[in-house]
Amino acid sequence: MRLKSKKILLGITGSIAAYKAATLARLLMKEGAEVKVILTPSAAAFITPLSLSTLTQNEAHVDFFDNNTWNNHVELGLWADLFIIAPATANTLAKMANGICDNMLLASYLSAKCPVFFAPAMDLDMWKHPSTQRNITTLLEYGNQLIPVENGLLASGLVGKGRLAEPEHIVEYINNHFGQQSKHLSKTILITAGPTYEKIDPVRFIGNHSSGKMGFAIAQALADIGSKVILVKGPTKLNPPQHPNIQVINVQTALEMYDACQQHYPTCDGAILAAAVADYRPINPADSKIKKTKDSQGLTLELVENPDIAKHLGSLKTNQQINIGFALETSNEAANAHKKVLKKNFDFIVLNSLNDKGAGFNHDTNKVSFIDKNNNIQRFELKTKAAVAQDIIDKLIELFDA
Ligand code: PMT
Repeated sequence: MRLKSKKILLGITGSIAAYKAATLARLLMKEGAEVKVILTPSAAAFITPLSLSTLTQNEAHVDFFDNNTWNNHVELGLWADLFIIAPATANTLAKMANGICDNMLLASYLSAKCPVFFAPAMDLDMWKHPSTQRNITTLLEYGNQLIPVENGLLASGLVGKGRLAEPEHIVEYINNHFGQQSKHLSKTILITAGPTYEKIDPVRFIGNHSSGKMGFAIAQALADIGSKVILVKGPTKLNPPQHPNIQVINVQTALEMYDACQQHYPTCDGAILAAAVADYRPINPADSKIKKTKDSQGLTLELVENPDIAKHLGSLKTNQQINIGFALETSNEAANAHKKVLKKNFDFIVLNSLNDKGAGFNHDTNKVSFIDKNNNIQRFELKTKAAVAQDIIDKLIELFDA
């Protein structure tokens, strides 16, 4: 009964997977939750409100008006401890991302004050479409939480990504969410995130594809459980999380990141180094734009090594501090990552590989393994970066408690 006395609002949209929402409602109630349901009009074509109201022992709402009675969407949005929209169609996701409010479910979404989770379900190509992916990114930026689609046979007969997560998996996400709420960590943690840009000339730089999402997710999760975060971030398109516990320091280059980290690390209880720092920088950046030469002999850039921030912090680390690194690898992943744990004096390293789909740069998901000094390896499945952040924090708390 891990959800005892939790109030869960279940939003159902018009997908063939809507029938699974009945199982979801039943599982949530089995865990002790009280469940209220809102359906979009097209969801009501797939599963009847009567089935859901009988199952949950609460009226299932579709319209703003039922039997001449006004259904107050604001009340439902305020009543819930958590709002889960499952299945969430491409159409509803697009409306949620753009503030469209043409049914009771969307009005409740816009007025909900509680955490909102959404579990998409759609055909393979709809899932892959850039507009769907952009809408999902927007919803994540609003702070909503994605329960990733699963792989398998789709209603269209195609096989691939797009299936609604199994109800048991959705319940696991919800249980984890409430489990996290009882956590607390009163520490100050330095986090690096995003890329660094190393100037070639006033218009060009050496950089990489880091979006900052992984580091930002960790910063958010730590701030949520009471830690103070000093977030040293490279140039990212995404805004960092805003939270009273998070102090953001903006930098451009590896040298600037090094200076900021060096200054703040001694007052921190530890560091999590999620940034993708350029290992080299041009030795003599040009003051004006480098022009193409007529003889087309090519251009040679002379590079000099950047300081290794993680290694430097590792050399300063006291017995009370915990340092966690990241490794982005493309081959011999585990062996290379383990070498870095020892070289940079990490307590453990979070390995992500570019060979895993949905892992690494820019994705909202990641697939990681933790590797410690003794080469113990703990592997995780593909999860949202928010869920990966929770796993990292669980390990961090364990290490502080040891
Ligand atoms: O930002 P996202 O789009 O969400 O992507 C996340 C990520 C892929 C960038 C992240 O998960 C990640 O793997 N970050 C580390 C990438 C990397 O540079 O790995 P590395 O193997 O080169 O470095 C090992 C460790 O040393 C890292 O903790 C790195 O931050 C640190 N380092 C590296 C070089 C350097 N000069 N200074 C450092 O501190």
